[in-house]
Amino acid sequence: MKKRFLLKASLILIPILLLLISFKEGWVLDNGLALTPPMGWNSWNKFGCNVNESLIKETAAALVRTGMKDAGYQYVVIDDCWQIARDDKGNIIADPKRFPSGMKALADYVHSLGLKFGLYSDAGTKTCQGRPGSFGYELQDARQYAAWGVDYLKYDWCNHGSQDSISSYTAMRDALKQAGRPIVFSICEWGSTKPWLWAKDIGNLWRTTEDIQDCWECRRDWGGMGFPRILDLQVGLEVYAGPGHWNDPDMLEVGNGGLTLIEYRAHFSLWCILAAPLMAGNDIRTMAPEIAAILTNKEVIAVDQDTLGKQGRKVRDDGDCEVWAKQLADGSQAVVLFNRSGAEARIPVNWTEIGFPAKSDAPVRDLWKKADLGLFKGSYAAPVPAHGAVMIKVRPK
Ligand code: GLA
Repeated sequence: MKKRFLLKASLILIPILLLLISFKEGWVLDNGLALTPPMGWNSWNKFGCNVNESLIKETAAALVRTGMKDAGYQYVVIDDCWQIARDDKGNIIADPKRFPSGMKALADYVHSLGLKFGLYSDAGTKTCQGRPGSFGYELQDARQYAAWGVDYLKYDWCNHGSQDSISSYTAMRDALKQAGRPIVFSICEWGSTKPWLWAKDIGNLWRTTEDIQDCWECRRDWGGMGFPRILDLQVGLEVYAGPGHWNDPDMLEVGNGGLTLIEYRAHFSLWCILAAPLMAGNDIRTMAPEIAAILTNKEVIAVDQDTLGKQGRKVRDDGDCEVWAKQLADGSQAVVLFNRSGAEARIPVNWTEIGFPAKSDAPVRDLWKKADLGLFKGSYAAPVPAHGAVMIKVRPK
């Protein structure tokens, strides 16, 4: 009797189990990575195509020396232009002049410093700079990356012809899985097919806009824009982010010279409120102490890296003055008061706007001053410099 029951039960349960496993294998990104937004450095914003082995090694060493690694920056990612051709077997070849020791040796060096290593490719036939893309070579490339010790892949969308974005990114997700090495998968199709609607089970992060520029307000013909304009395009996307799958408003421009320190502090504060991936894009080897101080402010980074994994949202927009807030795991709210105008402005935040009782007393901490400001009943207001941000953490008693 017992035997027959077990037999019957297993006849029903085994197919269900197999179905669940195949569903998981085939359709879900389950690499267990990026449970908080990935942090690291990427070559593109500062160096463009001018990448080589010594730059990457020196940058990796500088990440350690400057305290960036301690602050959480982990992935050293070479963007476009490391690849030059394919050999007669279709294997991707790293430019031997720029990377004479090869990618495996470079990855080993980066790993020896306790950091992780990343590369860039493209879902189309060619990258944005005309280097070989991965279309038709997904598995071969994924296996090569795994053999080299790659931990992060940024995957672009140039030269995709009539390819469909969902199937193209799914193909590389499945190839990476088959290659067997845990690799953060960074989707970069600029928000063109609304990846927030489909990429959760495909990539760990997805770009939401065209390329960031190191400027306050500028637009490029092909769509590049400064961080305030990118910020505008994040409104409403907060519901799509969470542990393992993040909106990516693009890499940081902090330290690249086009903005003031006040503007860079605002850029960094807002990226942390957005739970954005924090990929530094400046020259780490030579950065000024004031730039390092922005990029390594641990209290601000803690907001970005909060384990609850909630992306912040805009809670008030008074034209030039905005209030953004992000719920944190300990029950507190991180708040950014952002002033887009050309003159100092006093910006208030009411406790009710961030989900706290109207008359409650709440201690406020200023995350840039690194100072407790005392108890505030019902609201807090601060003078915010032109193009600047004040960032606080609040939790009623
Ligand atoms: C696209 C991406 C950028 C960068 C370049 C490289 O523009 O959006 O982030 O990777 O390609 O060519």
